[in-house]
Amino acid sequence: MGMSTLKKILLGAFDYKTEKYVIAESKKVGILYRVIQLCIIGYLIGWVFVTKKGYQAVEESIQSSVMTKVKGVVSINSSDTGFSMWGPEDYVIPPHGDANLFITTNFIETPNQKLDNCAESFKVLDGRCSDDDDCPPGEAVTAGHGIKTGRCLKKDRNDTGTCEIHGWCPVERSQKSNVPQLGKAENFTIYIKNFIRFPRFSFSKSNVLETQDMNYLQRCNYDESVHPYCPIFRLGDIINKTGHRFQDMAQAVSILFVSV
Ligand SMILES: *[C@@H]1O[C@H](CO)[C@@H](O)[C@H](O)[C@H]1NC(C)=O
Ligand SMILES: *[C@@H]1O[C@H](CO)[C@@H](O)[C@H](O)[C@H]1NC(C)=O
Ligand SMILES: *[C@@H]1O[C@H](CO)[C@@H](O)[C@H](O)[C@H]1NC(C)=O
Ligand SMILES: *[C@@H]1O[C@H](CO)[C@@H](O)[C@H](O)[C@H]1NC(C)=O
Repeated sequence: MGMSTLKKILLGAFDYKTEKYVIAESKKVGILYRVIQLCIIGYLIGWVFVTKKGYQAVEESIQSSVMTKVKGVVSINSSDTGFSMWGPEDYVIPPHGDANLFITTNFIETPNQKLDNCAESFKVLDGRCSDDDDCPPGEAVTAGHGIKTGRCLKKDRNDTGTCEIHGWCPVERSQKSNVPQLGKAENFTIYIKNFIRFPRFSFSKSNVLETQDMNYLQRCNYDESVHPYCPIFRLGDIINKTGHRFQDMAQAVSILFVSV
């Protein structure tokens, strides 16, 4: 490349050009030109922006986790089995902090059961009898508690009027207590830690308040107005939010299902 070529290129950079326009006074060409223009604009707005959302970036590998921890201890003084303590490891299923968990609120206790022969409950229709023939030996009681032994414990002999069964004796009592056994669970708390990260945007967020006060999480209970960033919720408050009373629910169902 000679010196003169280089000079030409350098000088060319400072040239000023104008363009020549050709105006075609033809309706056909004009309409075609506008139609092509509209097509391009329509493609950009309709397809690229509205349908494909080309201006948005989408994260496809979101990382998130939920951790829960229930706290609370209750003592139960039962007339049958005496005094017992219930902690989260007893009433929370599964106990290792899943996003979905069950909390026991009520239970039926039948102490000292053992494999034996005893009378079927009168509440079980298939267990009622008036004669030994009603209790064919070896047959399971439908919706009952064991296997018929072939004996009818007759009512006219001042007995239950039900078949004798082989099973876990005495049979389970069917009536629940009027007060939920774990009614105090209303005041138990559940700590919910929620974490989400969008690696593409290097952005992460957690529901736990970042505070210098290390004791804050030990003291607070979630409250819409006072502690909106406290991740500790009272079970009674959660049920209240669903429009029910905790004690009613604990009485009606034996297990509460919590899903975060
Ligand atoms: C449990 O109840 C019985 C009476 O039903 C009472 O004598 C006993 O002191 C109670 N135990 C506790 C630890 O409260
Ligand atoms: C039936 O049992 C009751 C109480 O268990 C007793 O008072 C009654 O005398 C008994 N009747 C007969 C006929 O054994
Ligand atoms: C829950 O705690 C409050 C105050 O600490 C108390 O008044 C209430 O009786 C407790 N509820 C139950 C069901 O124990
Ligand atoms: C929930 O709690 C509020 C405030 O304590 C109370 O006014 C409301 O009656 C409760 N809702 C139910 C269904 O018990």
